[in-house]
Amino acid sequence: MQDKINKMFSKVSGSYDFINHLMSFNIDKNWRRACAEQALSGAGDKLKILDIAAGTGDLSITVAETAASKGKTATIYASDFNKEMLGIAKKKISSMGLAECIKTEEGNAFEINHHSGTIDVLTSGFALRSFFFSDGTGKNMKKFLSEAYRVLKPGGRTVLLDMALPDNPSQKAFFRVYSNFMLFVGAFVDRETYGWLVKTITEFDKKLLKSMMEKEGFRNVKIISLKSGIAYLAYGEKHS
Ligand SMILES: C[S@@+](CC[C@H](N)C(=O)[O-])C[C@H]1O[C@@H](n2cnc3c(N)ncnc32)[C@H](O)[C@@H]1O
Repeated sequence: MQDKINKMFSKVSGSYDFINHLMSFNIDKNWRRACAEQALSGAGDKLKILDIAAGTGDLSITVAETAASKGKTATIYASDFNKEMLGIAKKKISSMGLAECIKTEEGNAFEINHHSGTIDVLTSGFALRSFFFSDGTGKNMKKFLSEAYRVLKPGGRTVLLDMALPDNPSQKAFFRVYSNFMLFVGAFVDRETYGWLVKTITEFDKKLLKSMMEKEGFRNVKIISLKSGIAYLAYGEKHS
């Protein structure tokens, strides 16, 4: 399934950003900003940040911009296993003049290519479902969380952004209608990929994610629902 996921992202890489903004009516930008704010507020002034499954780089870029606006010095490693997505990230980062602070690197979320205890903040956007459903058992999600915990410095934090079915019944009902719009738009690019992405939103279990994070050792674990109810942040800290 991992190979299949990698191929799915190769297929949609060229239109990924456009479709993302279209499907979310640009709200995905606010979600990434909320993730960056949560990642950086209260964190130190000189940070080593790892953005796992960085794709076309939008979360890494938002984190870099947010860090600069707060007067923090951040080196961000934008890591992904998909060459095409990462290629787009690289171009975007260099055209924005951010290549000094954002380094792109190929890497797998289940075997993170960084030494233990070296990262202040670990982020990831819209990839938890790919991790969880890549084997259907949660084993790969456990591998990711254990790797995330390993590479964090004591006192470091992780902020994971993704989408899941809202808890609120009226937001849930809205999502059922909205998901048809997502499927309609996605079908113009690749019916299978977007069908899978929408299906995983409805099947992902945020409560299970929280308990898996706690089992891996994360403290102060919180699932923070963002305004629309569809997007959420999963937050956790490594003991200091
Ligand atoms: C939906 S995209 C999200 C991209 C980006 N984070 C964003 O905010 O738009 C999911 C990304 O996860 C990557 N991915 C999925 N499984 C992965 C794994 N096991 N290791 C590394 N990257 C992975 C895919 O290649 C894809 O770029």
